[in-house]
Amino acid sequence: MSSNLDHIYPVFDKMLPREAKEELLSQRGLVVWMYGLSGSGKSTLANLLERRLHEEGRLVKVLDGDNIRSGLNQNLGFSDEDRLENIRRVSEVAKLFVESGIITIASFITPNNELRKLARDVLGDTDLLEVYVKASFETCAERDPKGLYAKVKAGEVKQFTGKDSGFEEPDQADLIIDTEAHSEEECLAQLLEAVAEKANQPND
Ligand code: ADX
Repeated sequence: MSSNLDHIYPVFDKMLPREAKEELLSQRGLVVWMYGLSGSGKSTLANLLERRLHEEGRLVKVLDGDNIRSGLNQNLGFSDEDRLENIRRVSEVAKLFVESGIITIASFITPNNELRKLARDVLGDTDLLEVYVKASFETCAERDPKGLYAKVKAGEVKQFTGKDSGFEEPDQADLIIDTEAHSEEECLAQLLEAVAEKANQPND
């Protein structure tokens, strides 16, 4: 049976290894994958984390749902199938960054455990810190930073996560950050601690 991979000859072993990049940067590449409802605080925390790590001399890249969907993934919508393709592509992109030694912060709703597993399968346990940014639908609707929940209420947005498209609680997360119970500074401190711990774990 033929597949898309027929006549494709990937070569990885002749490329400069990841370790050389990590040595150059004096850091270990890893992915902080932050998921949760729209308005839960993912982007805010991703940006705070990026700035703080940058100040500490780390090279960091944020991959954010709205940004990636305005470029690379602009052909994707919010059906289950498109969300899966969104997460698959982003996982592969995150892998390219992490293999370059870059601390990569992915900020995507990633609404169910199948999608979270897909990201984990692509990235592997060693490089991935899975963070659930937790806030209830009601709180996110009150915050409504983009005015989206008002549009949902007015019936202008379909397949909205937590309304007519599902959001599953995680069955495995390395860290749960409750943005209803903690201040931004406290949430950032929790993230920094988890990142430091992960960065100090030896590579396999
Ligand atoms: S995911 O489900 O595929 O992981 P992603 O994080 O990329 O979603 O995109 C979510 C962002 O798209 C939201 O923060 C919001 O700004 C915007 N958005 C637009 N329409 C929807 C929708 N129907 N459901 C969820 N988010 C939407």
